Formats: sequence, C-alpha cells, structure tokens
Amino acid sequence: MTRHTVLGIETSCDETAAAVLRLEDGKATILSEIVRSQVEAHAPYGGVVPEIAARAHADIADKVVAAALEESGLAVTDLDAIAATSGPGLIGGVMVGMMTGKAIALAAGKPFIPVNHLEGHALSPRLAEDCPFPYLLLLVSGGHCQFILVKGLGDYTRLGTTIDDAAGEAFDKLAKLLHLGFPGGPAVEKAAETGDPARYKLPRPLLERPGLDMSFAGLKTAAARIIEAEDLSEQDVADLCASYQAAIADCLAVKADRAMAGFDGERLVVAGGVAANTAIRKALDAVAARHGARLIAPPLRHCTDNAAMIALAGAERLSAGEVPADAMMFSARPRW
Ligand code: KG4
Ligand code: ZN
Repeated sequence: MTRHTVLGIETSCDETAAAVLRLEDGKATILSEIVRSQVEAHAPYGGVVPEIAARAHADIADKVVAAALEESGLAVTDLDAIAATSGPGLIGGVMVGMMTGKAIALAAGKPFIPVNHLEGHALSPRLAEDCPFPYLLLLVSGGHCQFILVKGLGDYTRLGTTIDDAAGEAFDKLAKLLHLGFPGGPAVEKAAETGDPARYKLPRPLLERPGLDMSFAGLKTAAARIIEAEDLSEQDVADLCASYQAAIADCLAVKADRAMAGFDGERLVVAGGVAANTAIRKALDAVAARHGARLIAPPLRHCTDNAAMIALAGAERLSAGEVPADAMMFSARPRW
C-alpha cells in the first residue's frame, strides 16, 4: 500500500491556491482546497498584469497555505512532501510559490517537489475520477491551447499548439473590444446566448492545413474590423459573440477530430478555463462520440488553475519515487 499526503501550491498566473491531497493506492482524496482569485485586481486592465499578480501572491501566499493546512486538519509534520508550481508561468508569481514551498519543506525537513504547471493540468482529470492512461488532452485556457497525448506519468507528447493566441485569450480580446469585461470567456458566452452563430462569416484559420496546430489571432482581427466598420446594436453584439464562439468551437472540434483519428484510446479530456464553455463542450462531446470515446471534463474548479492538481502531480511523483535529489536548487522556469 502506498499513501502520500502532499501540500500543493499554485501561483503561476492570477490565482493564489493551496491544497492538501492524499494519494492512496492511486486514489486521490482532496483534504482541503483554497483558491484566491485576483480577477478583480486585473479587471480594469482587461488582462493579467504580471507585476500586480506577483505582489498579490506575495501578500497572501502564506495565509492561503495556512488556511489549506487548517482546513485539512493536518500539521506540516503530517505531510510527506510540499509541491509547488515551478513553471511555466509569470516568473514573479512562480517564485513566490516556490519560495513558500521550499521554506516550509526546509523548516519541516520534508522533500520539496517542483511541479510543471502543465503536468498539473494534464493530470487534473484524475482528481475526480478513475481516468487511466492513455488519454488525449485538449488544454484550453487563457495562456495555453494545445493537444497533449498523455501516455503515463511524465510521458507527455505535445501534438499541436496555437501558433499565436490561446483560445481563452481570443475570448478575452473580443470581450475587451466589445467592453464586455474581464475575464472575457464567460461574458462572451453570456452575450452569445441570444445571438445567431451564422450571422457573421468569420475565418477558421489553419483548418485546411494538415496537423494539429491552431491559430486564433486572425479571428480577433476579423472581429475588430466588423466592430470598427459598424455601429453595433445589442443584437449585433450577440450575433458577433455567437459567431465568434462558433468559430472557436469549430476550430477546436475539427482539430480534436483529427487528433482522435490518430489515437486509439477511449478518452478525450478537456481542461483549462475555456472548458467551461457549453458550446465548446458540446462540440467536443460530439467528436468523442464519433470516435467511440468519452469526453471527460474535470469539474470547473479543477479546469481552471488550482493547487489540487499540483498536489496530485507531486503525490504521483512521490509514489513513483521520482523526486529530484536537487529539488531545493531548482530555479523557477518561466518557459519550462
Ligand atoms: O485556466 P484559466 O483559469 O487560466 C489560465 O489562463 O491559465 O483560464 C482562463 C481563461 C480566460 O481566458 C477566460 O476567458 C476563459 O478561460 N474562460 C472561458 C469561459 N470561462 C473562462 N472561455 C470561454 N467560455 C467560458 N465560459
Ligand atoms: Zn493553467
């Protein structure tokens, strides 16, 4: 029997998060989970401002960790390791999380485990359910948009990625152009509810090209042209949002279909903030069904940035005996 209890810390973007998780014979139990979002601090700027993010993490990281420990009912001495996101991400925030994790590890005499944020997302479906390897992961957030073949712990192959903006970024940029607020995805989705997705003909870049790379910058440019040329009514805005969302859903679905055609597994996983979008989930659900597979979408709080996935990655590494000997010397890697 293996049983590991790990504190996870996540500070790579605009959420300060800590969680305590227990991994027992491959089954994860979340003992506590705290997430503090900085969304309001960044909203006036229409995007995440790195300097503001770093300061906010530094202000509250220790309190968030203390709250997670308290909620778990455990003491630091009960932990087997401390894991923290060590990249990729905004360097200031990553450093805050790592320093916090290393300090606790050093004081408690426990191992520190540097975790790749993307590995956290890749393993996130395993937080809630039995999701055996292999699976095909579509990670779609504000910072990432990529297909990853997850064959096992540490065995990840990136099959395709956006060559410019991430899909979430595309939503955020449209929301900014239309003054719908930040984060843009939920606002665009809401506006799209009463819109006609066929009203505006928007590009679907790279669909005709082979491979799994994606591109969304042209979509934003096309929308910007429409917004500049017309004085949009409320209905026009709804139609534009619906058309834009449909274009993104089409692009993701066509590429997901292509990815599933080259993969003989049974699971398509979607993670990242954009996985909250109902139209996109529906499109991916249909793709999975076409390939006799199942679409797995982690619950929303585990789709977006969270510390439970970081604790899980740490615990899985610990169980596999894969803790780097020189982890304390590990430096933050903004582009890991
Ligand atoms: O994973 P996440 O919380 O943070 C990172 O970017 O790492 O994802 C946030 C992104 C934002 O770009 C946001 O606009 C997008 O996910 N998003 C959505 C929806 N909810 C959040 N995009 C489309 N539809 C949504 N309902
Ligand atoms: Zn993320």
